[in-house]
Amino acid sequence: MDKILVTGGLGFIGSHTVVELQNEGYDVVIIDDLSNSSEKVLDGITAITGKTPIFEKLDLKEKDKVEQFFAKHNDIKGVIHFAASKAVGESVKEPLLYYENNISTLVYILKELKKLPSAGFIFSSSCTVYGQADELPITENAPVKLAESPYGNTKQIGEEIISDTCKVTPNLKAIALRYFNPVGAHESVEIGELPIGVPQNLVPFITQTGIGLRQELSVFGDDYPTPDGTCIRDYIHVVDLAKAHVIALGRLLQNKNKSNYETFNLGTGKGSSVLEVVKSFEKVSGKKLNYKIVGRREGDIISAYADTEKANKELGWKTKLSLDDAMRSAWKWEQKVRGEN
Ligand SMILES: NC(=O)c1ccc[n+]([C@@H]2O[C@H](COP(=O)([O-])OP(=O)(O)OC[C@H]3O[C@@H](n4cnc5c(N)ncnc54)[C@H](O)[C@@H]3O)[C@@H](O)[C@H]2O)c1
Repeated sequence: MDKILVTGGLGFIGSHTVVELQNEGYDVVIIDDLSNSSEKVLDGITAITGKTPIFEKLDLKEKDKVEQFFAKHNDIKGVIHFAASKAVGESVKEPLLYYENNISTLVYILKELKKLPSAGFIFSSSCTVYGQADELPITENAPVKLAESPYGNTKQIGEEIISDTCKVTPNLKAIALRYFNPVGAHESVEIGELPIGVPQNLVPFITQTGIGLRQELSVFGDDYPTPDGTCIRDYIHVVDLAKAHVIALGRLLQNKNKSNYETFNLGTGKGSSVLEVVKSFEKVSGKKLNYKIVGRREGDIISAYADTEKANKELGWKTKLSLDDAMRSAWKWEQKVRGEN
């Protein structure tokens, strides 16, 4: 079976994708520098799939090491590139760190892929490229707006770099997957999201508040023009998201792609408000969540959810899991991580 490199494969979305790739019989090699993950994640992957992927601890910013890696693994057929820094707030404070880590690593990998007789490349992009879209749900044709942060800009520039490279590299086929809001954990709770420090995202903040690690959740604004006044996002279960990567990769490896650079939205198509997510947590956990409404947070988009038609029709992929499923698994995971289950 084809050998696939998964960069950032010990991270949140990467680890769930490695599981799905191994379940489909792919040989997986992971590169990760452990800057936002732990080697213990390998045990979780092994516990679920019965197979330990090859792991190379490597910082993709080190160009020579990347070259050596590809010289050693010259039979790689595809790359799923998750490795990146992802904290929006930190990117505003440390833009160069983000441009270096998210852009140079991409360039070094593409340079190596150009040398291969043929290669498929999947890029982790984000719905952040759309900013506050003029129309909802958001289709892939919605204009890319001026980035709101250096992090968001790295995703826009990343897409442009890949598109430009594909235009002049017939042996390279690529898909940029624009994720909406990935949440949840594997149902086995062997793997899940492991935020370092104070979580930047809503769901880990909710589960950490539920378990008592945080005192209360601040809900930023309840006076937005939405049904309950809180912001709306499209929360997609990480296992559904992981499965989409395997399908997108298969599309490239089986030459089913329509052009050698494509983009797809990955979301559920359904928007949920912050208060709906809180309610879902309370329902599946049986716990009352301590939260308070505070003022709006600067830079927050009011509402974003995906038009999933292109992914449904072209990839033949649909989400199967609900917000409640995601909250249930996220809560089970939180309890396991804190040793309460
Ligand atoms: N989680 C989200 O909400 C979300 C939304 C949209 C897009 N994305 C993108 O999806 C990808 C994966 O996100 P995630 O949530 O799994 O993040 P994560 O931080 O859990 O995973 C990223 C992994 O990459 C590794 N890494 C970072 N820099 C590296 C380097 N220079 N060399 C080698 N390894 C490196 C980290 O150690 C980590 O294990 C990222 O590109 C992110 O920008 C995430």
